[in-house]
Amino acid sequence: MKNKLSSTVILTGIILLLAATLVATFAYLGNQKPQTRGIAPLIDIAALEPDSSLWGQNFPNQYSTYLQTLTNNARTNYGGSEPFSKLEADPRLVQLFAGYGFSKDYNEERGHANALTDVQATLRVNEKTPGTCYSCKAATNPKLWNEMGLETFDSTPFADMTQHMTDPIGCANCHDAETMELVVTNPSLDIALKAQGIDWTTLSRQEMRTLVCANCHVEYYFAGDQKILTFPWTGGTTIEAISQYYIDVGFKDWDHPESGAPMIKMQHPEYEFYTADSTHFNAGVACADCHMPYTRDGSAKFSNHNVQSPLLNAQAACGACHTDVDYVVDRVNIIQDTVWATMETTEDALVAAIDTIEAAAATPGVDETLLAEARDFHREAQLRWDFIAAENSMGFHNPEEALRILADAINLAYQGQLKALEAAGGTVDIQTSQQ
Ligand code: HEC
Ligand code: HEC
Ligand code: HEC
Ligand code: HEC
Repeated sequence: MKNKLSSTVILTGIILLLAATLVATFAYLGNQKPQTRGIAPLIDIAALEPDSSLWGQNFPNQYSTYLQTLTNNARTNYGGSEPFSKLEADPRLVQLFAGYGFSKDYNEERGHANALTDVQATLRVNEKTPGTCYSCKAATNPKLWNEMGLETFDSTPFADMTQHMTDPIGCANCHDAETMELVVTNPSLDIALKAQGIDWTTLSRQEMRTLVCANCHVEYYFAGDQKILTFPWTGGTTIEAISQYYIDVGFKDWDHPESGAPMIKMQHPEYEFYTADSTHFNAGVACADCHMPYTRDGSAKFSNHNVQSPLLNAQAACGACHTDVDYVVDRVNIIQDTVWATMETTEDALVAAIDTIEAAAATPGVDETLLAEARDFHREAQLRWDFIAAENSMGFHNPEEALRILADAINLAYQGQLKALEAAGGTVDIQTSQQ
């Protein structure tokens, strides 16, 4: 009798163990719904609730780690949360962005909870700025998009939208209040995915752990008079497809005052760059794996909502998959230094192209057709360089792609320089034109 009982206990134990292994395996593979709560929620959260502190009453660990994004201020070699001036760090940017807001004010980005404060402080905002600029900054947006519609949101002046902006980026930007599932909240992302035949509601949980960041960490532009937030993804998300899109719709952000080229400013294409066949993406790793690693607090295991540079948290961010964390952090340093050096070479090539095109334009009898071709080379070279420069990982998210694109940019810049020389009949006087 006693033996029978203990064998039942052992058997039950084995079954439980198997079940636990199965659960763990599926958790590893992804694809399951978010953990169901052991206890009923303390309060009901209204759909699209902008106030993260209310959600925080049900999920104190996620909320308290999210709040840390407000005060993070550590700097890494190329990133971190200290909002240093990128223009002071690299004065060539002032010439590359001449005639555009980014030549006046361009700071390193910081944590999510600062997004509203920072957008309201930037010198790039003026009386002509549309409400569209708030698209990626506030937890109020999903509710506002629902109530006002995308067109009204975007075409309302920035200053008039400010009164609605009560809450910075928060829970409602990423989660459905009832199910806590990750969701696409930005209507422009939904539209861009549909145009490619993608229905995000059918994606796996692991895919959503990357896609949810694409609500904001993407290249975009403001289309038409209503300044509608639009992702240039109709032909795909590679830099070549994005460049072709802008050529096809005839869009430019500004005219470069020195070269005269119609320019495109890249925003922050983390999603496009990462998903362009990077090693990690192709291995099924998601943004959240590195930027929101699982954390333990006693018996509770949760996703760390203190989204920041993984280099400030490498043991948790990389250690879940890599046994030698020091080695992979070293690799990050080597990759970033290499990409930075190649970016500097590219900037030199761009500056040479700009100076030569400007001098060619001032040369009597210049061939305007060839000059226009030189300007197109400047634009194409600079938007490729900017794709890497504006992307926030200094190449780490996809090192091969970074070097491929920069090599193209250097080549295009020199072609622009040669074309300008040809337009001017062989020689130009750079000194004279710069006086
Ligand atoms: C394999 C790990 C990994 C994955 C996956 C990953 N990142 Fe990163 N990310 C990094 C590292 C490392 C850096 C460099 C941080 C630094 O320079 O301090 C970084 C930098 C960043 C930065 C700038 C941080 C800063 O401190 O300035 C942003 C923003 C970012 N990643 C967003 C994303 C998004 C969005 C995705 C998914 C599309 C993603 N990352 C996927 C590891 C990762
Ligand atoms: C930038 C997007 C983003 C924001 C903002 C965000 N979350 Fe999350 N949250 C995630 C991701 C990604 C996961 C991982 C989901 C998964 O693995 O299925 C997650 C997971 C969760 C989970 C499931 C358990 C866990 O920790 O993995 C809860 C609960 C949660 N978040 C609560 C919150 C609350 C509360 C807020 C606001 C204070 C919030 N989240 C803000 C992206 C976000
Ligand atoms: C609702 C828009 C939005 C979503 C969704 C979003 N981000 Fe961000 N993220 C931003 C903005 C805006 C900033 C810059 C804030 C600032 O500088 O004030 C930022 C900053 C960051 C930083 C830099 C933090 C630092 O301290 O330097 C990282 C890393 C980052 N995001 C990663 C992610 C990841 C990973 C996801 C998906 C899990 C994600 N973000 C989802 C808008 C968003
Ligand atoms: C969810 C798992 C996971 C996480 C988290 C992760 N990695 Fe990886 N990493 C991989 C896989 C898988 C590979 C592919 C290499 C392989 O097949 O062994 C890889 C490869 C690499 C490589 C080699 C890249 C190459 O092209 O050869 C480096 C460097 C690296 N990871 C750095 C990091 C750093 C730094 C972090 C933390 C910021 C990190 N990884 C986080 C899974 C991960």
